[in-house]
Amino acid sequence: MENKQIDEVRQGEIMVKEPKQKGGKKLFLESYGCQMNFSDSEIVASILINEGYSTTTDFKEADLIFVNTCAIRENAESRVRQRLQDYKKAKKANKNLLIGVLGCMAERIKHQFLEEEKLVDMVVGPDAYRDLPNLIAVAESGQQAINVILSKEETYADISPVRLDHNGVSAFVSIMRGCDNMCSFCVVPFTRGRERSREPETIVRECKEAFDNGYREVTLLGQNVNSYLWTGGGLKKENLTEEQRANATTFAQLLEMVAMIHPDLRVRYSTSHPKDMGDDVLIAMAKYENICKYVHLPVQSGSTALLEKMNRGYSREWYLDRIAAIRRILPDAAISSDIIVGFCGETDQEHQDTVSLMNEIKYEFAYMFAYSERPKTLAERKYADDVPNEIKSKRLSQIVDLQRKHSEIRTKEGVGKRHRVLIEGVSKKSDEMLSGRNSQNTVVVFPKGNHKKGEYVNVLATSCTSSTLIGEVVK
Ligand code: SAH
Ligand code: SF4
Ligand code: F3S
Repeated sequence: MENKQIDEVRQGEIMVKEPKQKGGKKLFLESYGCQMNFSDSEIVASILINEGYSTTTDFKEADLIFVNTCAIRENAESRVRQRLQDYKKAKKANKNLLIGVLGCMAERIKHQFLEEEKLVDMVVGPDAYRDLPNLIAVAESGQQAINVILSKEETYADISPVRLDHNGVSAFVSIMRGCDNMCSFCVVPFTRGRERSREPETIVRECKEAFDNGYREVTLLGQNVNSYLWTGGGLKKENLTEEQRANATTFAQLLEMVAMIHPDLRVRYSTSHPKDMGDDVLIAMAKYENICKYVHLPVQSGSTALLEKMNRGYSREWYLDRIAAIRRILPDAAISSDIIVGFCGETDQEHQDTVSLMNEIKYEFAYMFAYSERPKTLAERKYADDVPNEIKSKRLSQIVDLQRKHSEIRTKEGVGKRHRVLIEGVSKKSDEMLSGRNSQNTVVVFPKGNHKKGEYVNVLATSCTSSTLIGEVVK
């Protein structure tokens, strides 16, 4: 069982807000999974709005329902299957309604989806969204439509996403797609295909456009951003000559290019991979005030033996060395992590290694998961999923409790200090308070005064809850 609160952060759902156009057919679009999926939904919305669709927040009035799905853990998939039941009822009421499954679960299950879920009309993988108008036409003619072809090139670089977020302050920008890492527990390489980087100029253009439209923060997205490399026109990383390598754009360089757009545009990124996290990225972060001092560096396990079985490509010592580099180059940075408990054959001692690593680092924040075996992965083929569910749950609650304590300690360290906060909107708890985040990604709330969303303010933190700083605006 996963911790609900934590899971919600990853598996949240968005719905498209206002209808963008009157008249045309109505689209209801719902997304599950990681930020990359949410970012893909913005591409999908863009493609369909171009086709004359308007969007709706009420699936009951939709002509077309798209569910952008996640396959990362079994419960991510069961949630989608449950949701499809609601849509099937809507389809019984409206025979012309079309239902499409997009994203990672579509890619994983492919044709079988159409057989298993009879009322689904379309199954579309993450690299096939340009084909949506076509697929919709096929579905409208009464046939089932499917495109789950993965591409080695597609980055949707030229499509301007329609921002579906709620605050108009932070935008997510995909800088690469796919993953070449083959961590043994992970389904992503199967659902998203080979790693490919997007042309830097198109990334900078998109970020600049967001800034010009009032956005004040961009988060650059990729499964392993440290391995970003633009070689200009399809050259393979492995076969580069020295000269070609010297001319390629690295992630550290891309970060600088985006940071230089404007000092008032904050830059964040996710996710770093410990094996590829070099000092160059940390040095670039130190150089620009507007690159946020926050590193999400998923460890997965504190045991070298288990990391090896997970095929992560680093040891506990290597990981701790990377943490030391962050502390050295960016002394005020916050660090967060992803952790899996109960991976194949995990012993009590190996679990304790994770606990001791957490105690040593004291992350500001962590996403924690019980291992969920995924079909076709290396782990599924090679190792038994032999840690009983009760033990997985026990280990998970143990580290969730521990992390709560660490988060509290870290939040308290912020009290008495001044924080530069980008205002994201009204606080959830009170209309009289505004809420935003500091560079380290901690939520800060303070009395409204005359301040507005999208502005920067300095806040002196005077108290805190377990994860939120409370304070007042100062000069
Ligand atoms: N590319 C990112 C992670 C993407 S998936 C990285 O390498 O860090 C997000 C997180 O889900 C992973 O970090 C991992 O902690 C978790 N996860 C992935 N597969 C899982 C599985 N089969 N069971 C449980 N958790 C899993
Ligand atoms: Fe999955 Fe590993 Fe790739 Fe992350 S780096 S997406 S965990 S295979
Ligand atoms: Fe899920 Fe696919 Fe993201 S499996 S976590 S939506 S890449």
